[in-house]
Amino acid sequence: MNAPPDQQTARPRPVRIVPPRDPLPAFRLLRTVVRNPIEVWPQAVYEEPIYRRRLLNRDTVFVMDPELIRTVLVDEAAKFTKSDAMLRSLQPALGEGLLTADGERWRWQRRAAAPIFRHERLTGFVPEMIAAAERRRDSLLARAEAGGTVDIAHEMMHTTFDIIVETMLSGRAGIDADRVERGITEYLESTSWTVALALLRAPRWVPYPGRRRAERARDYLRREVLRIVAERRASAEKRPDLIGLLLEARDPETGRAMSDQDLADNLLTFITAGHETTALALTWTFYLLDLHPEIVDQVLAEIAAVTGGNALQPEHVEDLAYTRQVLQEAMRLYPPAPIMVREAHEDVLVGDDRIAAGTSVYVPIYAIHRHARLWDDPDRFDPGRFEPVAVKTRHRYAYLPFGAGPRICIGMSFALLEAVAILAVLLPAVRLYRTSVNGPDLKLRITLRPGAGLPMHVERRP
Ligand code: HEM
Repeated sequence: MNAPPDQQTARPRPVRIVPPRDPLPAFRLLRTVVRNPIEVWPQAVYEEPIYRRRLLNRDTVFVMDPELIRTVLVDEAAKFTKSDAMLRSLQPALGEGLLTADGERWRWQRRAAAPIFRHERLTGFVPEMIAAAERRRDSLLARAEAGGTVDIAHEMMHTTFDIIVETMLSGRAGIDADRVERGITEYLESTSWTVALALLRAPRWVPYPGRRRAERARDYLRREVLRIVAERRASAEKRPDLIGLLLEARDPETGRAMSDQDLADNLLTFITAGHETTALALTWTFYLLDLHPEIVDQVLAEIAAVTGGNALQPEHVEDLAYTRQVLQEAMRLYPPAPIMVREAHEDVLVGDDRIAAGTSVYVPIYAIHRHARLWDDPDRFDPGRFEPVAVKTRHRYAYLPFGAGPRICIGMSFALLEAVAILAVLLPAVRLYRTSVNGPDLKLRITLRPGAGLPMHVERRP
């Protein structure tokens, strides 16, 4: 929904969720969970440090205070597992890969995948990131010549998909990007049903609208990754990419190697977790930049200063500090993964509150990033909030687009490098502006998506 304009600048404010003042009654709550679960969170979640509620017979706690977040995600992390609703939504597709496993099974997969995300390895990927961004720039310029309109959400999905496939699987491996993107969207579309059914503790076999479509999408995605795994196993060639690393990985305790199913779980996890989220971060950034031409000018000035007006080189990316701040602020207002949910598997003390085993604990990133006690004028887009001095004065856990603690996003640095590289290649070449004055709808489907994409006119930047 469009928020009232900024009093000082008269500019339109970025779209936001308008929370219900009071908790929704059970039936409306369930209907809203199916339509758009983020609209269930009451105003208190944006104002209070902690909020307890019995949600459909289940004890639920929302944790917003940064110190309490530290307790849940860091200090007492071992007392929590991923939530049943999240697992029920994602495990049918991602099995027990890195994102959806717990305990020892998670630990050894994390150790196995970690080396590929080391800084020196990541910097080696930047030329491929820039090349993918340049291909997208050229295709956008071709569309601009034809007076075109593009769905920037779709364009960004393709760009980040290209990057993840080129870098992690070293080569496209014959994957159909359009079909995969459609598959992921179709799969995620039905997750609000799986969340609602998990809240009701309905058995897993219960049918729901879109289930068959989601299962077909999942089957397609899994077939594709199993094909890639089989091709790599059959080839004698050893490549230092993610599959190569995972094929070689051994559990230090048991010596066990990954089965084809384990590999498929993880490849699908990296393909989905690794491109959707970054694409959404960029999509929301383009939306915000369209509202703030003065910030576009500052980003362009920084890019020109760093590159000297020449083509972006890999070594420039880390020097684009303001461009990175713009992305960080976009992820504050629109965190691509807007919520993390855990379940306590033993009693835990969180601040003064005793959380009983079986309680669901929500870390509502979207609401924390707009929390009245943590941010000044929270709905305003202001990349200045990420200047180093401002960051130092803020609590580390007031901002957590990548999560925190041992389960922090493994792809964080990768995502920031690629997002900065993509912006720095596209912005000087093309001007994008929205086709409608109305802001996009915010829709929670595990990730935070613009409801009907983000159509934008594209022009060559003079
Ligand atoms: C802007 C982009 C991204 C955002 C906002 C994001 C966000 C997150 C968040 C919040 C988590 C923690 C989930 C939890 O604790 O419940 C997470 C985990 C994860 N992310 Fe990302 N992510 C992004 C990009 C990436 C990329 C590029 C990759 C891979 C190349 C990736 C792979 C993963 C994986 C595998 C996990 C599970 C880690 C574990 O549990 O050990 N993500 N991400």
